[in-house]
Amino acid sequence: MRTVTKDNITDVFMGYFGADADPRLKEIMLSLATHLHAFARETKLTHAEWRKGIEFLEWAGTISDKERHEFVLLSDVLGLSSLIDMLHTVPGGTSSSVLGPFHITGAPPLAFGGDLKGDFEGQVLLARGRVTDMDDNPIDGAELDIWQTAPNGLYSSQDPDQDTYSFHGIQTTGPDGRYGFTTVRPVSYTVPTDGPVGEILNAAHRHPWRPSHLHYIVKAEGFRPLVTEIFPDDDPYLDEDTVFGVRADLVMRYVEHPAETFPDGYALSGRIDAPYLCADFDLKLVRE
Ligand code: BEZ
Ligand code: FE
Repeated sequence: MRTVTKDNITDVFMGYFGADADPRLKEIMLSLATHLHAFARETKLTHAEWRKGIEFLEWAGTISDKERHEFVLLSDVLGLSSLIDMLHTVPGGTSSSVLGPFHITGAPPLAFGGDLKGDFEGQVLLARGRVTDMDDNPIDGAELDIWQTAPNGLYSSQDPDQDTYSFHGIQTTGPDGRYGFTTVRPVSYTVPTDGPVGEILNAAHRHPWRPSHLHYIVKAEGFRPLVTEIFPDDDPYLDEDTVFGVRADLVMRYVEHPAETFPDGYALSGRIDAPYLCADFDLKLVRE
């Protein structure tokens, strides 16, 4: 094509697909090019700005590895990850929320009543609830993959002073669908700001904070996997999460209990000498 112009380049691009190209790939690529071209036209993007964008992507690529997922972080702070979550939410099931860049596979099993806190400083939190279907029937054998930061606001993969699987565990529900474990009260923390995404946040005068939360991935046979987080209602960043992860149904309230009422069947039973918090939260899965 010798007559490419700024006005017809999007159509020309569309014509370059082979007849056997995968239809969904074609649909996505055409839409992407249409929006990218429109973006460049609308903003009259300069060469210098385009170059800056390319350098940004190159830096994100260089800094990323199996523990640092800068492109995931970019998608998160742009609101893309949350938008995709919300586009696929099924009413009636627990909302999904961002996976984030810090989930690691292979966490050790955590028995019902098990403890993630160990010797870390901070208030004990008892997190418990039921995994159910949309009609409130308990789900037997649901697998709950749990992770959070240590009290210093760092995930184990960010912190050489933590064991690989500190504050990570996998719990499997029994016939009553119940889960329950103790941990430390999660803290608000900042997303990593020492890379290209941090530079964007800085340039936009945006803060990098996330409200405190516990992460869960819930899987059960016959149900859609749920990637989610739960947030306490008293967190100062609840309405300004830098990655847009908060949903109304994921907000819960901590209830403070005096020390002596700690329930039986938990690793900490009888050993607790200070008031602890309890987060009761049921997780509703959607059938496949
Ligand atoms: C997280 O909650 O782990 C997280 C999510 C998005 C970006 C950074 C961290
Ligand atoms: Fe997190």
